Amino acid sequence: MSAEPLAGLPPELADWPAWTPGEAQLADLELLTIGAFEPLQGFMAEADLAAMAERGTLADGTPWPIPVTLEVPEDVVPPGARHLVLQDQEGTPLAVLQIIEQLPIRGYSYGAPALSGWRLAGPVTALRGPEHGPFRRLRRQPAEVRAELAKTGEGPVLAAVTRGALHRRQIGQLRHLADQMKARLLLLPLVAGPADVVVRPDALVKAVLAATQSLPASTTVVPVPLPPRVGGPSVELRARAVVAAAYGATHLLIDPSDAPDVMLSGRPGNTRNGPLQLPGMPIPIISAGDWAYDPRSEVWRPLSLIEPGAERSELTHDELTDLLDRGEPLPAWYTPEAVAHELQLARPPREHRGLVIFFTGLSGSGKSTVARDLRDALTESGDRTVSLLDGDRARQLLSAGLTFSRADRDLNIVRIGYVAAEIARHGGIAICAPIAPYAAARQQVREMATAAGDFLLIHVATPLEVCEARDRKGLYAKARAGAISNFTGISDPYEEPRDADLELDTSALTRAEAVDAVLGLLVAGGWLASSGR
Ligand code: ADX
Repeated sequence: MSAEPLAGLPPELADWPAWTPGEAQLADLELLTIGAFEPLQGFMAEADLAAMAERGTLADGTPWPIPVTLEVPEDVVPPGARHLVLQDQEGTPLAVLQIIEQLPIRGYSYGAPALSGWRLAGPVTALRGPEHGPFRRLRRQPAEVRAELAKTGEGPVLAAVTRGALHRRQIGQLRHLADQMKARLLLLPLVAGPADVVVRPDALVKAVLAATQSLPASTTVVPVPLPPRVGGPSVELRARAVVAAAYGATHLLIDPSDAPDVMLSGRPGNTRNGPLQLPGMPIPIISAGDWAYDPRSEVWRPLSLIEPGAERSELTHDELTDLLDRGEPLPAWYTPEAVAHELQLARPPREHRGLVIFFTGLSGSGKSTVARDLRDALTESGDRTVSLLDGDRARQLLSAGLTFSRADRDLNIVRIGYVAAEIARHGGIAICAPIAPYAAARQQVREMATAAGDFLLIHVATPLEVCEARDRKGLYAKARAGAISNFTGISDPYEEPRDADLELDTSALTRAEAVDAVLGLLVAGGWLASSGR
């Protein structure tokens, strides 16, 4: 913690331990503090979790369907701590957790990857709201949205909670049900965690707003920071019902594909004809049933109304992404023009989309040579901007001063990955060529890059003996002699990738053949129109 006094905040705050949760936990914290998880006032304690698992209620008997817990690494709080300050990524305190229960956890946890640490429970007090990015004007609190819905009308409010764009099928179902139920529509795009197809939350909001052009004017859109839940589709569905109810929905529309296990256990036949009240759900769910496109009447309608065999079913996820990746138009029967436009902006054709080409391999494996030749080939033949982030070069400036400890290597790789992802965000091609010996750091780069564009991992799998025999810089000899410690392949590990898109052994390929193999991969995947060679 900084020694400076925190302006406008209680002075004792400075003495309490502080921690920055991950994205999903920050999102849960926000939902708690804005009242989207009412009646919960904080992170759940063991007795609440047990009652929930057993009876679908909190310990005091209040119905409650999903775990909302906080797991922290062991060193975040000492045993017996009374408070924890939860802060955002910039270190601004957002809330104080009053710790009423601190249980050691090992291996298993409700809300995060397995870790060894504490599960902390207790009420949270908000200090300030989190900083929101694009579309912050839409991010209203549940009470505000409920009040507005109450003021502007009456009757049922049907919610659709979604991580993906709404296409003609969903639009048709929403219009049909709104009409039938005399309901207003509440669209809740989920903006914590990656969105389907468009990936970025702002792109999801834009796509959902575009769909409202085809929906009643009274339709309300509120982005909600509900992170994906572990525990399967039924937990996700319950969580969606909880937030939908908090924002004023009286019914939740679901796709049968959203929650196959719930639909199976919960009398699927009935849902076709009306709302289904499931245990632990604050509001009834409605499944619109199976719809398809009827080419004869040119509308989406229930399958039962379409002459058998004439129906056309929705594009699959792969068909949709394939059309976008190839830059082909989306069919008008599938999605409105305005929605298609947003999808095309968010997921441009691969020929124009940002791309990180990440080489990994031992020192002397030939990474830099192939990476350089690839840059030259792309510069000669293409219309893309290309940046080369070589390992040795990166260590001269970007990572100057870092050692070859695991922590410093990881930092080096994440720095390179950060820059590469920014290049991809602007539609460029970034070629990276560090050793990158650890799978976890490579995975982190993959995640950063795919949030901004595409990512290809190329393992330059030249055998160690060959790299050592080449020994262009004389480093292997020094490493063998003990003059350099922690040398990758000799006295430090190299974790062979299992997720490489291409493997190159430069002892079996010429320089030109190696570059051709990469160019071939780029052409086959559609990132490059032709290799130009
Ligand atoms: S990484 O592990 O952090 O990815 P990076 O690619 O930046 O490594 O740097 C590797 C280069 O640093 C090697 O090509 C080599 O020239 C030099 N080097 C110096 N010391 C070491 C070492 N202990 N292990 C590996 N490479 C080293």
